[in-house]
Amino acid sequence: MNLTSEEERALRGEYGEALATAYRILVAVGKAADAERLIPVSSAHISGVTYHALSDAGLEFLEDFSRTAKVVIPTTVNPCGIDTENPNSILGYGIDEDYVKNQLRVVNAYLRMGVTSSFSCIPFEGYLSVEPGSHVSWAESSAVIYGNSFLGVKCNRESGISALASAVTGKTPLSGLHLDENRRPSLVIKVKVPLKSTLDYGLLGYFAGKIAKDTVGFLGVKTLGKPEAKALSAAIGTSGSIGMFTLEDSPQDIGTVIFGQQERQQILDELSDPSQPGAVVLGCPQLTLEEMATIATGCEGRRFKARCLLFCSRKIYQKGIELGYVEKIRKAGGEFLCDSCGDLCLAMRGLGSGCIVTDTVKGAYYMKHAHSLKVVLQDLDTILGEWTG
Ligand code: F3S
Repeated sequence: MNLTSEEERALRGEYGEALATAYRILVAVGKAADAERLIPVSSAHISGVTYHALSDAGLEFLEDFSRTAKVVIPTTVNPCGIDTENPNSILGYGIDEDYVKNQLRVVNAYLRMGVTSSFSCIPFEGYLSVEPGSHVSWAESSAVIYGNSFLGVKCNRESGISALASAVTGKTPLSGLHLDENRRPSLVIKVKVPLKSTLDYGLLGYFAGKIAKDTVGFLGVKTLGKPEAKALSAAIGTSGSIGMFTLEDSPQDIGTVIFGQQERQQILDELSDPSQPGAVVLGCPQLTLEEMATIATGCEGRRFKARCLLFCSRKIYQKGIELGYVEKIRKAGGEFLCDSCGDLCLAMRGLGSGCIVTDTVKGAYYMKHAHSLKVVLQDLDTILGEWTG
């Protein structure tokens, strides 16, 4: 890779070991991707914030790194395993004090480096300002796909560690989806079934992620709203490695695959169990304000028939309080967990007698695989109709 003389000096350790480590990471990633150089990025978003995912080795690395490392661009972080402002509230969910202590050490290491205390997987909702066309370095696949496809940023699917390296250098290798030639679809999916809910978009996304390798195009999806784009992006990231979709007409000479009723049903059968749920889980990716409004309207004056856990960022939660959504949902029995997510939070283990109902494909996949729960997938309207009364 061609490095500037300044980058070479940083790599040699002339500006400290933390910066040298970050440059070593970026150079290794860049060489593996055949990048010719590093480019500046306007923001970073880091995943890998839960203690149980990092383990003791990850925690020690972060604590050591954070003694001298500082982020140099706006940087947000993914959800963690606790509510950072009320850490002990998680003890009521069967999590032990040691876990809380270690999770707080992870949180403090990130904060010491100067990250924004977002603890959100939708950092573009209130934490990061995003310029279409700008290069960014984000981990968290759902955010990357949403960013590339819906917000118009240019971003590869970074790992937590490469996004951290970008945060302290302000750089990323010029490769993959930072290059326009890689942002054109290599496969088109013709959608032949009506997409009536965000769940339908999730099923389509999961199907696409399984069969496409690079950027995928959808034919028959004319426009997308924010909730649909979010559900589609999260599901694409769940089943595969692609980082972007398009809705524009694609060249004629590329492969086409049909997504019809049969394909939709196959994905639903794969992800949804024929079981009786004992809890409702909403917010994967974390809830937007609009989604919170829909839930508040749907459960107003009613009660959830089972425990209902809702995951959102602190900012969305606070806005939800101001607008009266949180109170309506709380009155219906909903329990909010800020800064965390259903799939990354150990509180989910054993929830609902081992079976939950949710409306998102990504949530279903990870609750099955990370927490060994059975999952019933229903669209949000059906959940609000059947599970409140
Ligand atoms: Fe976000 Fe957690 Fe789902 S990080 S996308 S709520 S798995």
